This record gives sequence, C-alpha cells and structure tokens, in this order.
Amino acid sequence: MSLFTSPFDPARETALVTGAGNGIGRAIAQALVGEGVRTVFADLYEDKVLAAIKAAPRPELAVAWAGDLAQRAACDALLAHAQATVGQVTHFVHSASPPRREADHAMAVDEETWGQMHAVNLEAGFHMSRELARKLIAAKTPGSFLLLTSLHAGTPRNLPHYSTAKAGMAMLVKELAKSWGRYGIRVNALVPGAITAGGFVADPALAKHIPLGRLGQADDLAPMALAVLSHKLSGYVTGASIIVDGGLSLTNWFAPPELD
Ligand SMILES: NC(=O)c1ccc[n+]([C@@H]2O[C@H](COP(=O)([O-])OP(=O)(O)OC[C@H]3O[C@@H](n4cnc5c(N)ncnc54)[C@H](O)[C@@H]3O)[C@@H](O)[C@H]2O)c1
Repeated sequence: MSLFTSPFDPARETALVTGAGNGIGRAIAQALVGEGVRTVFADLYEDKVLAAIKAAPRPELAVAWAGDLAQRAACDALLAHAQATVGQVTHFVHSASPPRREADHAMAVDEETWGQMHAVNLEAGFHMSRELARKLIAAKTPGSFLLLTSLHAGTPRNLPHYSTAKAGMAMLVKELAKSWGRYGIRVNALVPGAITAGGFVADPALAKHIPLGRLGQADDLAPMALAVLSHKLSGYVTGASIIVDGGLSLTNWFAPPELD
C-alpha cells in the first residue's frame, strides 16, 4: 500500500483543533476532516467556526465549539464536549492565539493583554495537552499533539508577551515529548514563517527576504501539519520543531549570491 494513502485511521483516531475559526487552525481542521477524521473545530467565535465547517470538504465529520480558552473552565468544557461528541481525542492541534498588535511593545503592553496571550497559548496548551494525555495513557492509546509556535520563540518580535508565550510553548513541546514518549504520545511544534492567514498582516515587501520568493498561506501549513500528526508518516518524530517558512529564517546580513 502506498505510504501516502490513508495517513490516519478514522475508526480509531479523532482530532481537536483550537483556533479552527481562522487561518492556520482552520486550514488544518479542514484538512483533517478531508482525510476522514472526526474533528472538533474550536474557536472564540461561533460564526467563524460554523463558516469554517461549512467550507470544509466533509462538514458531516466536524463538530463545532465556541468559547474563550483563556478561561480554565472553558478549556474543561471543550474537553468534555469533545469526549461527548467524537470520543477520546487522539490528535490535538493548538493554534488559537489572541491577535498581535504592533502597539503592544515592551513599554505599552498591559497586564491583561500579557495574561491573555500566555493564558491562551501556553496555559491552555499545557492544560488541555495534559488532560488529553491522562486519558490516552490510562487507555493505553497512542496520541499525536501539535502546538503552533513561532520563529519568535527564538528571536524578538517587539511583542514580549507573544515571544515569551511562544518560547514557553517551544519548551513545553520538549518537556511533554520527553515525558510521554514511552506512552506512544508524540508532541511536536509547527513553526510558521510569515503566513498571511489573518493573525499576521505582512508587508508584501517581506517576500524579497524569503528564499522561496513569496509570503506563505495557511494551506502551505496544513499538509505538513497532517504529516507530523500522522503516526504512519511521522511515527518516529517527537519533540521536533518543524519550520514551514519558505526559508525566511535563513535571512541574515548576507544577501544570496548573484547567479545570473
Ligand atoms: N500567521 C503567521 O504568520 C504566524 C506566524 C507564526 C506563528 N503563528 C501562530 O500560528 C497560530 C495560528 O496563526 P494564524 O495566523 O492562523 O492566527 P489567526 O488569528 O488567523 O487565528 C487564530 C484563531 O484563534 C482564535 N482565538 C483567539 N483567542 C482565542 C481564545 N481566547 N479562545 C479561543 N480561540 C481564540 C481566533 O478567534 C482565531 O480564529 C497562532 O498560534 C500563531 O501565533 C502564525
């Protein structure tokens, strides 16, 4: 059988995607139902979730949930909803993140904005991963988790609440991968570059710094997300940060050589 047919086992595997109302999370959730995986689409905004499901290849496999993942009770409500609708979640994608505003630099960002960024990205990511892992471990069932981090986990963004939250997530991926590998639960980070997906409004001039010559789209991330989530394709990959950035992170003070 071809390696690339049936990357998932829809009879036993189910997914939960946060941030599924927009951008990268939406593209990944839609791709998962396209592969036949029953998937919970979770986001802050119900209208966005419903629109994402309506535009998905197999909407009948999607379950909607809306709520604020900065709240612990909402995270627990989402987990309970997932259990009640699709059963044990084996594949978790954490893409939800509050908007980044350029005005929130080091001297301006307020406590609430700081707290919200960390609560949604890092704290919700940790709490939901741990609760899902508890059940998988008890049931002796493998799992695959994917957390959306950023190139700014390692380099400043002039938004310290954002870069520190992503740096925390990058280490969380390593901690969880190491702790849960023996139970067959893989945990990886997907690291987007400059993706015009809604969360990031890029200056088109940025394209000249990207070796592949263009800004990214959410659909550039989804195939790699599925590959890393799939045990069949990435069964020996855990604790990894998979960069999908068209080469943006290779940019430094040396311009590439003139070849023509
Ligand atoms: N777009 C990029 O260039 C880029 C680059 C690096 C990292 N990332 C990361 O990838 C992920 C997706 O980025 P995107 O550009 O698709 O973002 P996006 O803003 O388009 O989507 C994020 C989604 O999260 C939801 N959300 C925000 N706060 C929430 C909350 N409190 N509870 C529940 N849902 C909430 C939003 O409603 C939105 O639908 C984010 O974690 C982002 O930090 C994106």
